[in-house]
Amino acid sequence: MERLELNETSRVLVLTGAGVSAESGVPTFRGANGLWEGHRIEEVASPEGFADDPTLVWKFYGLRREGALKVHPNPGHLAIAKLEERIGNRFFLATQNVDGLHARAGSQRMVAIHGELFKSRCLSCQVPFEDTKSHLGEPLPRCPKCDQLIRPHIVWFGEMLDPDHLQQIGSFIAKAGSKLHFFAVGTSGQVYPAAGIVDEVRHRGGTAWLVDVDPSPEYAVRFQHVIRGKSGEVLPELFGTG
Ligand code: OAD
Repeated sequence: MERLELNETSRVLVLTGAGVSAESGVPTFRGANGLWEGHRIEEVASPEGFADDPTLVWKFYGLRREGALKVHPNPGHLAIAKLEERIGNRFFLATQNVDGLHARAGSQRMVAIHGELFKSRCLSCQVPFEDTKSHLGEPLPRCPKCDQLIRPHIVWFGEMLDPDHLQQIGSFIAKAGSKLHFFAVGTSGQVYPAAGIVDEVRHRGGTAWLVDVDPSPEYAVRFQHVIRGKSGEVLPELFGTG
């Protein structure tokens, strides 16, 4: 298998998706035809879905919280954290995963662009706070100050990403230019703006790698290197951290 060759000016940006957590036992989004208990993901992961049926949306996220508390980082998460340990400020991670497994594996220079499963916020005051409760079998959680509904701190379909996160990713890419190695790992490349990062990297002359057990063909054509395999098996060898 190919092995990543870095010198002292190389920089690495990693973008991860649900596939990286699959080997920990967290289900991917589009694995079961994008359905959860017969509902389309957009139905339970959108502001409209929450307005229509907050109990259903809280059930979806409550079960995901319970599930995420039982799982552990896998060798893919650990390889990413070890690469950061080796190259420090020349590394950055953008994850679409909300499960918190990268942070538990030791990743630090990172942004969770689609939000965090173990945080919630009030619809009115909007201040995120740590929340590990599933809220299953309880009345809907409400803000003690505003009495408004509390919602999961997740970036839902149709919502904007945190502009500060996008700025951090953009300036890392711009600073690295052609010295950048970009890795998209375990993501189907269907959700923007994350799916557009590869084009920005290529535009600046960087090298783009896709690691996926079953790469989506439309996404794969935009990369110079495509490695088909499980992230927990490929990354330790590719990064030389195993
Ligand atoms: P998807 O479920 O769309 O894609 C997961 C990808 O991981 C697929 O390409 C699989 O082939 C691949 N895969 C599965 N197991 C793997 C393994 N062990 N090693 C490597 N690859 C593997 O998930 P995402 O691309 O992450 O947004 O989805 C993007 C966003 O859509 C999610 O963040 C979520 C969803 O709506 C929010 O929740 C806001």
